[in-house]
Amino acid sequence: MDASDGARADSILLVGCGRMGQALLNGWLDRGVDPSTLSVIEPEVAIRDRVAARHPDIRALESAAALDPDVQPGVVVLAVKPQVMDPVVGSYRRLVRPESVFLSIAAGRTIASFQRLLGEAARVVRAMPNTPAAVHRGITVACAGPGVSSEQRRACTRLLEAVGSVVWTDDESLMDAVTAVSGSGPAYVFLLAETLAEAGVAAGLPAELAARLARETVTGAAALLAAEGASPAALRRGVMSPGGTTEAALRVLMAEPDGLAALMREAVDAAKERSRALAS
Ligand SMILES: NC(=O)c1ccc[n+]([C@@H]2O[C@H](COP(=O)([O-])OP(=O)(O)OC[C@H]3O[C@@H](n4cnc5c(N)ncnc54)[C@H](OP(=O)(O)O)[C@@H]3O)[C@@H](O)[C@H]2O)c1
Repeated sequence: MDASDGARADSILLVGCGRMGQALLNGWLDRGVDPSTLSVIEPEVAIRDRVAARHPDIRALESAAALDPDVQPGVVVLAVKPQVMDPVVGSYRRLVRPESVFLSIAAGRTIASFQRLLGEAARVVRAMPNTPAAVHRGITVACAGPGVSSEQRRACTRLLEAVGSVVWTDDESLMDAVTAVSGSGPAYVFLLAETLAEAGVAAGLPAELAARLARETVTGAAALLAAEGASPAALRRGVMSPGGTTEAALRVLMAEPDGLAALMREAVDAAKERSRALAS
């Protein structure tokens, strides 16, 4: 590895290698990104050891202070928790230059908040991925701030596409609702599997069988949704027959005004409000 690798335009600095950071890092390596262009800042030694075990050419460092002054990454990916973002981001101010883009995946943190911390000249992309990124099935919505070049957008697209699909929006005000739908959304589906299993036990099934039925029903239905061009509503209707068992259940789930639709609206609104609150 050459010390100048860190100054290459395609070099990447990943700040925070937790759940999402690791998913991104694995996606980049699986996509053939040159490990010698990757630097990772992560305080947790066990995670740094895992990164080093994945590839010895990746620089895995404890803090920004350990970063070689020559490192001038083309993309700085900010993947720490929103609550600790403020003190963390200030340490990377020296990396601000027209050739570098800061790609944040933090919930709620606005482009303006990063420009306050890094200076107006910072090029910032705000993105919201989700945890299926760990199996290359994530979806990310991204929004570019002032000054981000089309080449920098392409670089961010390449990094985010390594873990799933990418949609760009010019309207940053949508990002709180995006966070509430797809960022937090996998948890809603996991809760569905949990509560379906619990209902199965309440209906008399052994716990292990109920858990297996719920898990394979959720993953099987998701695979069907992914494989077929049909809408979820059409697939749902395909399971129902008039006067049948599914119709009896859906009459409960789709009851107005307090069925699943109203509950989901309330849940998404709560997540959206929390995302807004994290901005301040
Ligand atoms: N999880 C999701 O579903 C999801 C979805 C979309 C977006 N996001 C966003 O992704 C970001 C990361 O979330 P996550 O779930 O991956 O959190 P996480 O697992 O807690 O990962 C954050 C990592 O950053 C590390 N860290 C803390 N301070 C640091 C510093 N000064 N420099 C470098 N690294 C530092 C943490 O180490 P310690 O544990 O030692 O503090 C941790 O390993 C958040 O901003 C979140 O909003 C998450």
